[in-house]
Amino acid sequence: MSSQPTPRSGPHHVAVIMDGNGRWAQSRGQPRLFGHHAGVRRVKEIVRACPDHGVKYMTVFAFSTENWKRTQAEVSGLMKLFRRYIQSEARDLLAEGVRVRFIGDRLKLDAKLRRVMDEIELLTSRNDRVHLTVALNYGGRDEVARATQRLAREVAAGNIDPESVDETTLARFLDTCFLPDPDLVIRTSGEARISNFLLWQSAYAEYEFVDTLWPDFTTAEFARVLEGFGTRERRFGAVTA
Ligand code: IPE
Ligand code: IPE
Ligand code: MG
Repeated sequence: MSSQPTPRSGPHHVAVIMDGNGRWAQSRGQPRLFGHHAGVRRVKEIVRACPDHGVKYMTVFAFSTENWKRTQAEVSGLMKLFRRYIQSEARDLLAEGVRVRFIGDRLKLDAKLRRVMDEIELLTSRNDRVHLTVALNYGGRDEVARATQRLAREVAAGNIDPESVDETTLARFLDTCFLPDPDLVIRTSGEARISNFLLWQSAYAEYEFVDTLWPDFTTAEFARVLEGFGTRERRFGAVTA
């Protein structure tokens, strides 16, 4: 949404591709799920650090539309982990002023998980200190396709004139309609790709790829990445003197 050049200020919205849990566990001779447990614990620390750095929105990639290709054991372990984590953290998140919301196609998730997702969204809906958005069964292309389907329905029903459709119309139908665009996207684990994350929304995001595996990503490293962001000049296609 914002498109004014804002060099030397911190990012308002940070999105994170939390990658490397499996390798972290394997390097310790442990099963991949051990790494996912460690990864989930990091989320809490990073979210807690956000207010100190002026980060109002934090969006984390927890499970992609492509991650269903993993073994059934890993997928079901992850789903159980998400459910347990949401339940066990609800009280702290509420007390710490964190508003939790989810993006992604939740209809494909198990009913028990969906219920706790709905509950925590409702429970924290009045919070405004930090906005934590969890991308769960999220894919950027899938999101645009679902948004287009909803938009097409409105057009077919005669509620929207096709000639009036522009970028802002489509953005209103995206899962992220309540979020500003990310200013900074961080990916851990050394992979320099976006893996279908926030494709539309990251059109002008800065990217930071760090080698650290997600379970080792500390608040100190987070602070260093944010500092680096402050030195970048964001031009948004314009020319600066
Ligand atoms: C990221 O870690 C978490 C999820 C995709 C759920 P990975 O599980 O992809 O870990 P690596 O990349 O195999 O090390
Ligand atoms: C991206 O990581 C998805 C999440 C972090 C949830 P992946 O590990 O699934 O991505 P690829 O397979 O390396 O592209
Ligand atoms: Mg990975």
